[in-house]
Formats: sequence, structure tokens, C-alpha cells
Amino acid sequence: MNAKITATAHNTPKNIMTNHDLEKIVDTSDEWIRSRTGIEKRHIVSEDEASSDISTRIALSLLKEKNILADEIDLIIVGTVTPDHYTPSTAALVQKNIGATNAWGFDLSAACSGFLYGLETGANFISTGKYEKIMVIGVDTMTSILDFKDRDTCVIFGDGGGGVILEPTTKESGIIDSILHMDGSGGDYLIVPGGGSRIPATIKSVNERKHYIKQDGKTVYKYAVKGMADVSEKILSKNNLSGDDIALFIPHQANKRIIDAAAERCGIVEDKVLINIDKYGNTTAGTIPIALNEAVNENRINDGDLILLAAFGAGFTWGSILIRWESI
Ligand code: UT7
Repeated sequence: MNAKITATAHNTPKNIMTNHDLEKIVDTSDEWIRSRTGIEKRHIVSEDEASSDISTRIALSLLKEKNILADEIDLIIVGTVTPDHYTPSTAALVQKNIGATNAWGFDLSAACSGFLYGLETGANFISTGKYEKIMVIGVDTMTSILDFKDRDTCVIFGDGGGGVILEPTTKESGIIDSILHMDGSGGDYLIVPGGGSRIPATIKSVNERKHYIKQDGKTVYKYAVKGMADVSEKILSKNNLSGDDIALFIPHQANKRIIDAAAERCGIVEDKVLINIDKYGNTTAGTIPIALNEAVNENRINDGDLILLAAFGAGFTWGSILIRWESI
């Protein structure tokens, strides 16, 4: 039994931070950020907003879109590296906020691959035949771990997320293939060193800014291009497809140059590549479901279309998912 996507939604906080706003905070420029990353602005949370607030809005939109009640949801999976708390999980907060009285759920930590790992997990729960309606959300409040004194990281991330409802289909459609990878030897290149059990939060660790995300951008860039291109080529050849067969490529939005390089390697032409990094920056687990919902709303996806998703992120984690779209 395959899993198909029967509803999509996304949500981003109201506040917008432009590159020009960042110029006033760190030594950077609109020109540098645009030319090196493709980003023009990003949405950021207000002081009283966290990942569960964004996720709850996404979950409510999904229920509305499907016109179902919260108690019909069996399982809630939230891909995030910026949960409100270590415990309870963001999934538990969403469950409470929407009143999903028959659901269980959990958070899943796979950074920028969080939504793809979540889709794979949800699809496998559907395939057991035991679950009928699963919410998969990818969300991150990156500003909660951003050091606005570190121009290597603070200019590239934003806050937001999106989600889907998965349901079974008896057709040869929905999520038809997936390839996911992990290589922990890349862990130090993109890391939040402090605040966990290795370096628990202390006045010293906070003063040393260890609870902020650190990145060796050049190294991550190199692995990201290779990882995303290799895995996308692999899933295409495994399914006897070429880039021409793909109706829409929805890659993780970390850097426009990474996306362009991966699309070119797979032979996917520019107008079949969804790029919205200019508006949102890198929202980590949020990028793919935000882009997917925009594509649906803009009627860029039709019944029977082959959609290719690909991501690369901290861990390292990366992967590709192939969907044959089935209109509801
Ligand atoms: O989603 C998770 C996965 N993350 C990624 O995939 C991110 C991968 N990495 C990247 O996207 C890029 O490496 C960055 C956007 C982070 C950086 O771009 P880059 O082209 O690799 O720049 P760089 O680090 O090589 O720096 C080039 C120059 C340096 O100056 P010099 O040494 O050439 O004089 C930097 O000091 O740009 C300077 N620079 C900046 N200038 C203005 C670095 N950051 C900034 C900045 N504003 N924010």
C-alpha cells in the first residue's frame, strides 16, 4: 500500500527581516547575500512564537483543507531541530493544540532532511495498513539557535514550516520511491555544540555562544552539491527515468547555487525547479513542505506528474523521494 499526499499547508511568521535589515546588525551586504545564496528576505518569529505555534497553524490548515476533524488523525510526525522544548515533543504540543485525541506522535531530528525522513517514516506506517491519516510536518525556528554576531550563519536561515496529510492509495502512485542516507562523520561541520547532554547549558557555555549553530559553509556546500545531485541521479536511474520525466523538482532551499548545480547534474531544466529561497531563506526542515504547498497553490502540480524531492543537511543527512502525484 502506497501513501499519497491528500493535503498540503505551510505557515511562516509575520515578521520579515530583509538583507538590508541584516546589514545594520552584521558586517554583510544585500549584494553579497543575494549573489552567494539567492536570499532576499526571511520570515522570523516574534518573541512569543515558537515551532509549535507555526506547526499548530499548519496542522489546523491541513484539517481545514481536508475538511476533517482532528480526532481522525492517527499519527503526528514533526521533523524539527528547534523544538519548543526537549520534552514534551512539538508533536505532543500540536496534538494538544488541535485536539487530536486519537493520535500519538513524535519529533524527528534530521535537520534539513527532517521532512523527507518524516515522509518516509509516515509512508511506512501507512504501508502497514494500520494507519489511515498521518500528519507530517517539517518546521524550524532557526532564529532560536542563530548567533546574530556570526555572519557565516545568521544571513542564511529563516523561520517557518509546512506539512502534509498522508493517506493510503491502492494505485501505483503517491510516494513511489525513496533513498535516504546519513553520514555522522560530517557532524562537526554543521552543529549546535552546546545545550545538549555533551555540553549542558551553563553560564559558561552560553557565554561561549555554544548554544548557537556553527557551520563550515564551504565544506557543507561541497558535500551538499554532491549529496543532493548523487542521490537524485540514483533515484532517477533506479526508476529508469531521466530529468526530462520530472514535472517538478522541489529541492531543499539552502543556497540557490547548490540547487542549480544539482538540477544541472540531473538534467532538469530551470523552469521545472522550484526555487523560493529568495523569500524565506533556509528554514531547515521547513523548506520542502513550504515549497510543495506553494507549488500546489500555484497549480504547478497535476494528476500523474512525477515530483522529485531532494534534501541535504546536518548530520550529515540527505536523500531523495519520488512522488507520482495523485489528485484527490
Ligand atoms: O541547509 C543546511 C546545509 N547548509 C548548506 O548547504 C550551506 C552550504 N554553504 C553555503 O551555502 C555557502 O558556503 C555560504 C553561503 C555559507 C557561504 O558562501 P561561500 O561562497 O562559500 O563564501 P565563503 O565562506 O567562501 O566566503 C567568501 C568570502 C570571504 O571573504 P574573503 O576571505 O574572500 O575576503 C568571507 O569572509 O565572503 C566573506 N563572507 C561574507 N561577506 C559578507 C562570508 N560570509 C559573509 C557574509 N557577508 N555574510
